[in-house]
Amino acid sequence: MPLSSRWTLTRYLIEERRRFPQANGDLNALILDIALACKAIARIVAFGQLGDSLGQAASPKAGEINVQGEVQKPLDLLSNEVFIRMNEWNGHLAGMASEEMELPAQIPSAYPRGKYLLVFDPLDGSSNIDVNVSVGSIFSILRAPQSVVDSGRDVVEADFLQPGTTQVAAGYALYGPSTLFVLTVGDGVAGFTLNPNLGEFVLSHPAIRVPEDTQEFAINSSNSRFWEPPVRRYFDECLAGRTGPRGKDFNMRWIASMVAEAHRILMRGGVFLYPRDTKDPTKAGRLRLLYEANPIGFVMEQAGGRASTGRQPVLGVVPSELHQRIGLVFGSRNEVDRIERYHHEPVPRDNGAPLFSERSLFRN
Ligand code: AHG
Ligand code: MN
Ligand code: MN
Repeated sequence: MPLSSRWTLTRYLIEERRRFPQANGDLNALILDIALACKAIARIVAFGQLGDSLGQAASPKAGEINVQGEVQKPLDLLSNEVFIRMNEWNGHLAGMASEEMELPAQIPSAYPRGKYLLVFDPLDGSSNIDVNVSVGSIFSILRAPQSVVDSGRDVVEADFLQPGTTQVAAGYALYGPSTLFVLTVGDGVAGFTLNPNLGEFVLSHPAIRVPEDTQEFAINSSNSRFWEPPVRRYFDECLAGRTGPRGKDFNMRWIASMVAEAHRILMRGGVFLYPRDTKDPTKAGRLRLLYEANPIGFVMEQAGGRASTGRQPVLGVVPSELHQRIGLVFGSRNEVDRIERYHHEPVPRDNGAPLFSERSLFRN
């Protein structure tokens, strides 16, 4: 398709807004500022190790431990800074929260405050930075509580504790061989590819749908000794392949960059699991509800896929903490349904172990 007939992100947003004649364009303007932040981060990431010498990078605070107990890399902090600086001035936000900040960020008094909250993981999969594997940014837009909008007061943690069903928009940018911006404003999912010549996100993947069935799963199986029985059952059945209870062979992938796995699954189907496990009893899972599970969950559901804690739809969970962790399973609808069902069924006597399952020689 010639470039001239492709929609830019700006045009997509304007066409979407026509569904709401009373909308004033604040949301669109906010999304364009988020997209600009993502373009800036894409450039920083692309400089890689050359960043320092070109004055692109290293924040002096790098090497600190964040609220998650994880080492913050220079690019985690720099990306966080870019998100804040590109969104604090525009008058559309009442506050922001991020993986890299223990407390919500306030809009400086020099700028007007608005009616939305922005929650983000500025750089997901950042352990992959040093090995030049895809990373991304994840964002979620919520409405600020009316009391915040009316009073213009500072935001507090409780203002952000809204279930994923209340998200107004969500998406991610993926910094891979090309830079992509994937977005839902609650009317399906659209993907945009950065045209580096124009510096514009151009609609390349309209109306994305996740295939309902799949033969590909993603899980970090080095954690298998900590899994709960339903997860082990699902995994064992996949491994058993054609001669097991599933009657088909499965393929496995693990990038250790959730945003990249989410994108692969959006494009060709699959299921991703980072389930609740017993590895650290103080943590309900690895991934964070507000800025990882909810935005990716909203995108999946809007693309016809599903996202679950394993036990219930993730978007229905009422958060109790800003940095709350949660078990997460998402992707092809029929596979997520099956995993949820396993969590509700009694564990089979043989724990689904392939040698003794439905199609096995050992079964009488
Ligand atoms: P972040 O880089 O924002 O801390 O998130 C990393 C997450 C996620 O992207 C990925 O799926 C997972 O951590 C990888 O976990 P393992 O190290 O257990 O593979
Ligand atoms: Mn992350
Ligand atoms: Mn991160």
